[in-house]
Amino acid sequence: MQIFIDSADAAELKALAETGLVDGVTTNPSLVAKAGRDFFETLREICAAVPGPISAEVVAQDAKTMIAEGLKLRTVAENIVVKVPLTREGLIACKTLEDDGHPCNVTLCFSAVQALLAAKAGATFISPFLGRLDDGGQDGMELIREIRAIYDNYAYPTQILAASIRTGAHVRDAAIAGADCATIPPAVFKALYKHHLTDSGLEAFMKDWKATGQKIL
Ligand code: E4P
Repeated sequence: MQIFIDSADAAELKALAETGLVDGVTTNPSLVAKAGRDFFETLREICAAVPGPISAEVVAQDAKTMIAEGLKLRTVAENIVVKVPLTREGLIACKTLEDDGHPCNVTLCFSAVQALLAAKAGATFISPFLGRLDDGGQDGMELIREIRAIYDNYAYPTQILAASIRTGAHVRDAAIAGADCATIPPAVFKALYKHHLTDSGLEAFMKDWKATGQKIL
């Protein structure tokens, strides 16, 4: 499964990318506002730090302006993916941009039929929002399973990008359900490699090794 980081904090993304485990990045207008910096400058820094797909979201509501915004975003770097909302206008923009060779991530997906339409529009990525469905008392992971089944039935190449991830369990379950990618907040990513038995086991190994008085280097 590809691991994307859900953030617009260029400095933090650069540090996380040093692990060699980050395949891409997703941003959204709220994350850009939180970062508090110039959008285009931030995007340039992120694209330079992470070679994979970097989603940058349009803010227009009509397809024509979405397409114009998307084309401008695509001038920032080759790895920019245009993020469009799952609305009628967003799907039209997606179809037009994809037909012209510009990859799109269709965001704010909350149902399997929405995902079906995004695939028909030729989207490179579909972003079902797991956490927000869970927050509302629904089962976000069931949506991933439904989309996986539909995409497999018709061999749609659109990649399922599990979004609105809140926990490591979300990452695990999305991987089991067959999501192609997960976009993960930095804090959740950092928690993925942690386990208290790893820490205590390592501590015991180091204590025993020290007692041998030996060195490897
Ligand atoms: C996806 O691309 C979105 O940026 C993101 O996952 C939204 O997550 P949230 O529900 O935590 O805001």
